[in-house]
Amino acid sequence: MEVSVVVLAAGQGSRMKSALPKVLHRLAGRPLAAHVVNTARQFTSDISMVVGHGAEQVRQYFADQSIKFCEQKEQLGTGHAVAQALPELPKEGAVLILYGDVPLTKKETLEVLVSKVSKNSMGLLTVNVKDPSGYGRIVRDSGGNVQSIVEHKDASKEELKIDEINSGIIAVPAWMLHEWLPKLSNNNSQGEYYLTDLIAMAVAEGVAVQTVHPVDEEETLGVNNRVQLAQLERWYQDQVAECLMVAGVTLQDPSRVDVRGSLKTGQDCWIDVNCVFEGEVTLGDNVVVGSNCVIRNSTIGAGTVIEPNSVVDQAVIGSLVTIGPFARVRPGTEMRDGSKVGNFVETKKAVIGEGSKVNHLSYIGDTDIGHGANIGAGTITCNYDGVNKFKTLIGNNAFVGSNSTLVAPVNIEDGAFIGAGSVITKKAPADQLTVGRARQVSLSHWQKPEKKG
Ligand code: UD1
Ligand code: MG
Repeated sequence: MEVSVVVLAAGQGSRMKSALPKVLHRLAGRPLAAHVVNTARQFTSDISMVVGHGAEQVRQYFADQSIKFCEQKEQLGTGHAVAQALPELPKEGAVLILYGDVPLTKKETLEVLVSKVSKNSMGLLTVNVKDPSGYGRIVRDSGGNVQSIVEHKDASKEELKIDEINSGIIAVPAWMLHEWLPKLSNNNSQGEYYLTDLIAMAVAEGVAVQTVHPVDEEETLGVNNRVQLAQLERWYQDQVAECLMVAGVTLQDPSRVDVRGSLKTGQDCWIDVNCVFEGEVTLGDNVVVGSNCVIRNSTIGAGTVIEPNSVVDQAVIGSLVTIGPFARVRPGTEMRDGSKVGNFVETKKAVIGEGSKVNHLSYIGDTDIGHGANIGAGTITCNYDGVNKFKTLIGNNAFVGSNSTLVAPVNIEDGAFIGAGSVITKKAPADQLTVGRARQVSLSHWQKPEKKG
């Protein structure tokens, strides 16, 4: 059966105490609603999102995705919210309703839920909880058949004792929404149009209501405040850490690693504490990541060691490379096999050739370095004249003495040797010693300054 998804995301989220709409608050680096949309995409490309509070910001975030936005001007309840999407929904097939603030429902759980939908049956994701207060309760008859959902505020004393709650996530045949949403009333304690009233209608019309439970309760948890956001983040990170360990990675402390995106790993990687991985990161076999590193959208080759407190961003790193400690490898850096970038070195749009070393206190930007080169401590490429950027070329086996200033555009040819402290503004020819600094002089008849008057 074809599936369409409706994501409800119009609520205010006042308990976040934030100028940002709740569904744009981030979990594992991505907005809550983006997690939901990603899950939805695994079922269908037909996604509608009901927006209200902060609608413009939400639309903007998803501007480059095909999502049908439906504006709910006033938040008159979940039933009213889904009704806003009706014009977008096909008359046939299944509709899966998700909440934009319930980010971590698993695809596998939803697959089971959707499988319960036929022309004459629907699925309801429910869970038994210790503290059901605030939630809609699942009312069953003596035979265990679902009869209705009663909202907390409308529930009788007896109904309040029920510990099976409505997650809010349901899958229904599309016709049900088209026929029954317009018939909902708001005659209840909150004066809202409840989506949950569909259940009693379904029962009355002989539609089978089947319940599905998630593997983990967290899959159904919504975010209402920042405490809950932090709790779900932790749950998510714990799961990621477990997957990494199962896949053959040693985590020095699984509770002190954060993955905000996707981290692919080879065998026998070792990750020390407090590392953050953002975007798409790939580690080859035997990669070592020291403590307090941030690695973003980068590929790291086998056997490479990233020493503590280093940041690697949008870089391609070969194998057996050494980075850090305290290195900043910025976008567009390519480090070839066996190369080295040491402490307090910053690189940007730079190729560091095979086996080449930039060991200390340097800035290497818009630069191509060949293989086997050695860049001395304190070397700076002056790539920017305040208006334009220029390129520095450093050949194979070149040796740049400490504290040299390479004013781009400039070419240090293969095997060139630059004397320490040079300011290089012109080509340094291959295999020659180039020195660009004032000559050292010593004056024997020098008069020490004396105190005046
Ligand atoms: C709803 C369910 C309740 C369930 C609970 C699970 C109803 C009537 N009740 O209650 O059975 O146990 O979720 O968390 O459905 N929203 C809109 N527009 C609106 C109202 C809500 O878009 O007019 C969105 C919210 O942004 C949120 C979701 O729908 O993502 C749920 O709304 P919320 O107000 O939290 O519903 P509850 O009253 O908690
Ligand atoms: Mg709620």
